[in-house]
Amino acid sequence: MLHGSSSSGNGYHRVGKQRGGQPRRGRRGSGVGFRSSHYSQQLHVPPCTEYDKAYFRAYSDIGIHEEMIKDHVRTSTYRAAIMQYQDSISGKVVMDVGCGTGILAIFCANAGAKRVYAVDASDIAFQATEIVKSNNLSDKVIVLHGRVEDVNIEEMVDVIISEWMGYLLLYETMLPSVIFARDKWLKPGGLILPSHATLYMAPVTHSVRYHESVDFWRDVYGINMTSMLPLAKQCAFEEPCVETITGENVLTWPSAVIHVDCYTVLAKELESISAKYKFVSMLQAPLHGFALWFDVEFDGPHIPSNEHVQDFERSSSELILHPNNTCKKRIKSNEAIVLSTAPEDDPTHWQQTLIYFYEPIELKQNQIIEGSITLSQSKENARFLNIHLEYSRSGGRSFVKETAMR
Ligand SMILES: C[S@@+](CC[C@H](N)C(=O)[O-])C[C@H]1O[C@@H](n2cnc3c(N)ncnc32)[C@H](O)[C@@H]1O
Repeated sequence: MLHGSSSSGNGYHRVGKQRGGQPRRGRRGSGVGFRSSHYSQQLHVPPCTEYDKAYFRAYSDIGIHEEMIKDHVRTSTYRAAIMQYQDSISGKVVMDVGCGTGILAIFCANAGAKRVYAVDASDIAFQATEIVKSNNLSDKVIVLHGRVEDVNIEEMVDVIISEWMGYLLLYETMLPSVIFARDKWLKPGGLILPSHATLYMAPVTHSVRYHESVDFWRDVYGINMTSMLPLAKQCAFEEPCVETITGENVLTWPSAVIHVDCYTVLAKELESISAKYKFVSMLQAPLHGFALWFDVEFDGPHIPSNEHVQDFERSSSELILHPNNTCKKRIKSNEAIVLSTAPEDDPTHWQQTLIYFYEPIELKQNQIIEGSITLSQSKENARFLNIHLEYSRSGGRSFVKETAMR
């Protein structure tokens, strides 16, 4: 059903030969309200690289879908959000960008959607088709096997749903595909779930972790193995670590690195993100590095306020946050459901991402630690993130850490 001919039994065009071939050009309407800028130029269809093909192959494995679906916080929050927006979904046309097994598309069909286009470029789409059939939803859920950038449907949609978030929020670089779908297929005033996302960072102390990975080599069964220390530090801390910490590891309130409004963000703005930060330690403790995590909110479009404009300064390819961006409490609009991956909340399969220093820094209570972080899509493979971290303690020297999430 999914491969072969260029159009399906439902009359919707299939990808087949187009994939990796000539880029197609998107439909455009007139500019309306909050999405006005997106309708003034033709959409660029990015090429499907060998890295992209490998990425989609990875999603054909059952294990990754099992892990995501078994992440109860993730899956039940999406289902709750769909039910909260049932009035906006019932009788409407939905697109699920990256449907995987089709679970979110089926939630939407069960919430009364008239039609759901469930799009996935991975071969997991074959399973999604079977799952849709065995739930007697083939008349409502149309599984399209292909990149959302390449598929063709014959109508605009009222709702876009997608689970696109990677580690550090932006790893995997799937959000640009959601932006592409928004600009091509979403009706003006349509709903995007989730609607907003925020990446946070905070300084952490984690002596147990440092001891297990590094100090352990100082005395091994009475043998001095300190010569192993440089290698141990490099192996343990060269790259970001995905692991679970608790609120007790966090030395102060987090700072927002980026806030993404899925209704308005441009793919170009995600290519490189820089934020400055300034923390005041609440404790005396060794600082071992920084933790990063994100949350996403399921909401309608936010009306831009002056406060928002003051917080963010846009340049062509960067979003820069000013250092007073530390937040005591997440400020969310009324009633919006939030999927959080914060250390103080229930654990998810995203855990937290830790960027450890090679050497801890002794912090006194009320001491300031400040610097900047830049996350940039790798030139080699845009799904990878290069990380440039600058940090210094008040009165101390400055450090730079370059690392990458591959
Ligand atoms: C994180 S999984 C989510 C799967 C499913 N929606 C769920 O919630 O269980 C992301 C899925 O999006 C697909 N995907 C990523 N980018 C895509 C694109 N540009 N076009 C189509 N599918 C894409 C991947 O193959 C993968 O199956």
